[in-house]
Amino acid sequence: MASLNIRSAYLGAKDQMEPLKEEVDGIIDIHNQLILSSAPAMEAFWALNIWQDPIVLAIDSINDGARKLKALQRNWCLYSYQLHRRAKLIQEKLPHVSAKPLIFPCSPPSSQLGSWTLLDQNQILASAQCSSPYLNGEVLFKEDKKGPPSRAYLKLYEALTRMRQFPQPGEFCIDAGGSPGGWAWAIQKLGARVLSVDRSSLDPKIQALPNVEYRKGDAFALQPSDFDQVDWLFSDVICYPEKLFDWVSSWVDSRKCKNFICTIKFQGTPDYGYAKKFLEIERSQVAHLYHNKHELTWMHTVK
Ligand SMILES: C[S@@+](CC[C@H](N)C(=O)[O-])C[C@H]1O[C@@H](n2cnc3c(N)ncnc32)[C@H](O)[C@@H]1O
Repeated sequence: MASLNIRSAYLGAKDQMEPLKEEVDGIIDIHNQLILSSAPAMEAFWALNIWQDPIVLAIDSINDGARKLKALQRNWCLYSYQLHRRAKLIQEKLPHVSAKPLIFPCSPPSSQLGSWTLLDQNQILASAQCSSPYLNGEVLFKEDKKGPPSRAYLKLYEALTRMRQFPQPGEFCIDAGGSPGGWAWAIQKLGARVLSVDRSSLDPKIQALPNVEYRKGDAFALQPSDFDQVDWLFSDVICYPEKLFDWVSSWVDSRKCKNFICTIKFQGTPDYGYAKKFLEIERSQVAHLYHNKHELTWMHTVK
């Protein structure tokens, strides 16, 4: 049976399955957002959650399914693509796992979280070792509906939480492509100073905030030689990955900036391979965050 050959599984974002399919080797089957593979688990930029070494459990009842999952470990997250009612009844017999939105700034959850699904009425596919500590890779924050001018700040929240580092009071940050000001809002709320550079204006409410400075123009014109020291360089500029890479490389080489978070946007016929060049920069992470659209996020800290 094909299910016995499953050696890894990849959960992708609903609208970003194509690049994930390009990345994953040995695809056996795809169930909505879950890709099953016969190859060992590999890094995949576009996966929200990677299921390592999943096993198939034969079950003869709902109770039996719950008992077998509990015997493996405590915390489980259901990914349900079929047989929803049966799957839900099994999940309800497992220990409760909190789905409460995070309150930023915070640390990622520390407890191990496994994932499971029903392959059919009598077979569970379960992985006790998943790459994401969040339920199906969904990183939910308590949202602020009044302060920020857009929801873009959520991807910055997610990247900072993943890095386990945050701009500190008094630190100096550059926010490239900052309009209308969601990231600037989040940065100044942490007490840091932010220079936002964009061809478009900031929302006047954001521009009026203390510690926010706005400069109109091309963010790529900002050069390391213009600054003594920068604590964080953020970019959410809409541009080709190669343009961003050349610009951030000059900053990395200059050693003038300590931390970076930049979104790598893909448009037209994208060369997803470009993401690997960012990853080759030492102490980097590249990931498709839950709050990313057709983009990846590069995170880098100089230590
Ligand atoms: C996705 S939006 C940024 C959203 C922002 N991070 C926020 O939180 O509100 C991308 C921005 O990049 C800006 N942009 C594109 N090319 C630029 C360039 N060369 N220099 C500066 N800004 C640029 C656009 O004007 C746009 O405002």
